[in-house]
Amino acid sequence: MTTAPAPVSTPGPSQAHSRATTTLLADACARAARYLRDIPERRVYPGEEEIAALAPLREALPEHGEHAARVIATLDELGSPATVAQNAGRYFGFVNGATFPVCIAAQSLTAAWDQNTGLRIMSPAAAAFEDVALAWLIELFGFPAATAASFVTGATTANFTGLAAARHALLARAGWDVESDGLFRAPELRVILGEEAHVSVRKSLGLLGLGRSRVTLVPADRQGRMRPERLPRLDDRTIVIAQAGNVNTGACDPIREICEMAAEEHAWVHIDGAFGLWARVDPAHAAMVDGVELADSWATDGHKWLNLPYDCGIAFVRDAPSLRAAMAAPAAYLLTEGEREPSHHNPESSQRARGVAAWAALKFLGRAGVVDLVRGCCDRATQFAAHLRDAGFNVLNDVVLNQVLVSFGDAERTNAVIRRVQQDGTCWCGSTVWQGQTAMRISVSSWKTTPEDVDRSVAAIISAAAAVH
Ligand SMILES: Cc1ncc(COP(=O)(O)O)c(C=O)c1O
Repeated sequence: MTTAPAPVSTPGPSQAHSRATTTLLADACARAARYLRDIPERRVYPGEEEIAALAPLREALPEHGEHAARVIATLDELGSPATVAQNAGRYFGFVNGATFPVCIAAQSLTAAWDQNTGLRIMSPAAAAFEDVALAWLIELFGFPAATAASFVTGATTANFTGLAAARHALLARAGWDVESDGLFRAPELRVILGEEAHVSVRKSLGLLGLGRSRVTLVPADRQGRMRPERLPRLDDRTIVIAQAGNVNTGACDPIREICEMAAEEHAWVHIDGAFGLWARVDPAHAAMVDGVELADSWATDGHKWLNLPYDCGIAFVRDAPSLRAAMAAPAAYLLTEGEREPSHHNPESSQRARGVAAWAALKFLGRAGVVDLVRGCCDRATQFAAHLRDAGFNVLNDVVLNQVLVSFGDAERTNAVIRRVQQDGTCWCGSTVWQGQTAMRISVSSWKTTPEDVDRSVAAIISAAAAVH
């Protein structure tokens, strides 16, 4: 019979245990610091070799545990080289931001706290940090002070949360309790959506029983902005979903016009502002989302442009009782203490303390730092567009925010250039099809991207294009 080695992480109050924990955390911390030191100069996307080196992970479930230090060593030795260097300056895929050292440190400490923040009584500390971070965000975006807000997993869930409040409010007005009675035989709601709305909005509509396709689509212009003159007649059973920041072009719907039209008819306006809402904090870009404070609910991400660690979205709802009616799930043992019980404001019950890293980032940056972050990404996007145009390539969008779409010719050639750029590893850009044209999609969302990073990336893109015939 074999005996298992005692795992170092075995709980116990002994001195040896606490020394081992200190050593383990110091080792993880040193590894994390080395990782951050080295990523700026390594391939942005792991090579085939690094990905193949993950193979030993696929072992059978071990019968006996391993030394905690060895577990962390394996994680670092196999995992770190195979990561995507998103937490650096030359990753331009999707809308994935980097994160700040202060957030990594805050998140590490929060991991040690291991707080469940579903209810205030479970963690007075986490609740206090969340309260402050949410109040600061409400102030940054210029929303009414009484707006209800909640941290969620991402903008998809934030859209779901805002739209659940909308569904509640509009049906309650019609005398229907949707949370109790569902949608069978409920009064009809109408949902109006720009034709370039993000796919996560349709997903949320599907989850809410409102239907991914049972929507009235409003045509968009060449930048993807809803054309407000094409909005159908609105009424008090209508939800209009507008967008701040098209995922391809960065363009924002004409929000003030939409909100003013909706207000006259008591329609509900929800804004999907996953990243574009951050334009609001920079005076140089705020006009793009003019009137955004007039909406009824909003979704945004912390993990995109605020460069918070994953996962972190934020939902805001003007009418707090509607959000609570949609989300509250009381039970005798779930002791509540105050107005903002997190699990009564979002779809989750148990949840991690997302607000701590949000608080840390905002405390570290201050308002001015957030403005610099947004402005810097927009400046780098403009720099990308200018250099790529100078090199003779076709920039398909008006670069109004942090998104750039570039065509290198037909779809085949453009895709070949994108593949070469991805293989080269200097930077990473994804692909898309924008209004029928295949394009390279460059999203500048990292606080780490410098003008030199843009220059190096542009040089890599130009040489990839030259190599593609
Ligand atoms: C406009 C828009 N809405 C929603 C989302 C979904 O965000 P998440 O992945 O955080 O759920 C995105 C993601 O890019 C987006 O760009």
